Amino acid sequence: MLDDPKAIEKVDRQGMIETLESLPEQCEEALKNASQIRIGYPKPSRIIITGMGGSAIGGDLMRDWLKKDLRVPIEVYRGYELPVYADKKTLVIGVSYSGNTEETLRAFSGAIKKGCMCVGITSGGKLEELCKKNSIPYIKLPGGYLPRFAIAHLFLSMVVVFEKMRLCSDEQHIEREIKDAMQVLEQVRGQCKRQTPAASNISKQIAENVNGKIPIIYTFGPFKGAAKRIKSEFNENAKTPCFWAYIPELNHNEILGWESDLSGKFFVILVRDKKKETKEYVTRLEFTKRVVEKKAGLMELEVVGRTKLAKILSLMYIGAFASVYLAVLKGVDPAPTRLIDELKEELK
Ligand code: F6R
Repeated sequence: MLDDPKAIEKVDRQGMIETLESLPEQCEEALKNASQIRIGYPKPSRIIITGMGGSAIGGDLMRDWLKKDLRVPIEVYRGYELPVYADKKTLVIGVSYSGNTEETLRAFSGAIKKGCMCVGITSGGKLEELCKKNSIPYIKLPGGYLPRFAIAHLFLSMVVVFEKMRLCSDEQHIEREIKDAMQVLEQVRGQCKRQTPAASNISKQIAENVNGKIPIIYTFGPFKGAAKRIKSEFNENAKTPCFWAYIPELNHNEILGWESDLSGKFFVILVRDKKKETKEYVTRLEFTKRVVEKKAGLMELEVVGRTKLAKILSLMYIGAFASVYLAVLKGVDPAPTRLIDELKEELK
């Protein structure tokens, strides 16, 4: 079914797969769009990225990618009230694609009141109004995307903010990683697009494997944000429960769940980075794999690329394609997010 473009078109009525297929071009556009921002703040003592859902996840990817290159701590905050330690020396990046997400607006208003160094990333809405009213620098994103499909803009706008504020210790290295990642994304697009048959398309294979099961993503190291993102994409696009956990933590609790008779309902995608895995991680990954395989389906998903950013983004990209293909297999339109919208209405 996934090799029949007509069948995909019939389910994916708003063309989400096409939006995914244009991700490399969106990345170029995003870097250009964001580069216009001017930020005059001094160096912060910490960074808080505040947002929800598809707008927040770019923060996790940033943290995973740059944790070792940053001179200051970075955290992603999802909620209404910023931590008490957010102060005048804290850089707060408020991210909301729509610009109207309640939690983000409250947290960002709090940051303005506390005198934090604020930067906005949004396509408009009340977040843009707040930025304008308070003379806060912000990146205006193009409209017309569903928030989760605006990831190129959401993520790369953050990267540009970091670059403009010279927050990373090795800027040339960052530039090189971005270039490399863009090339790898093009390569992954070729491997995962509609026209590539299931026999050689890893995203279609994932979708076929998890169809009828509850997917779980097991990950480690710098791939936590990417795994969390894939989980959300399965939830939002394919409308299926999905979970994620990471090694080593899952080896101290979740692993015992595999003794259950319910285990057969799940299918595990085990993220691997074989060339980089240290001895203890190989032992943990192989042990976990043996335990799961006794009770449930499992496939390994080897990350693509040489640099950390390329691996993180390509993993996320493969997962995004898989989530839309799963929606197609289930006959579910990937675009609408009815329950999210209903709650947002109720909160108004
Ligand atoms: C919908 C999606 C959601 C939103 C979230 C916050 O496509 O991905 O997770 O991102 O509800 O809304 P925004 O991004 O507009 O702040």
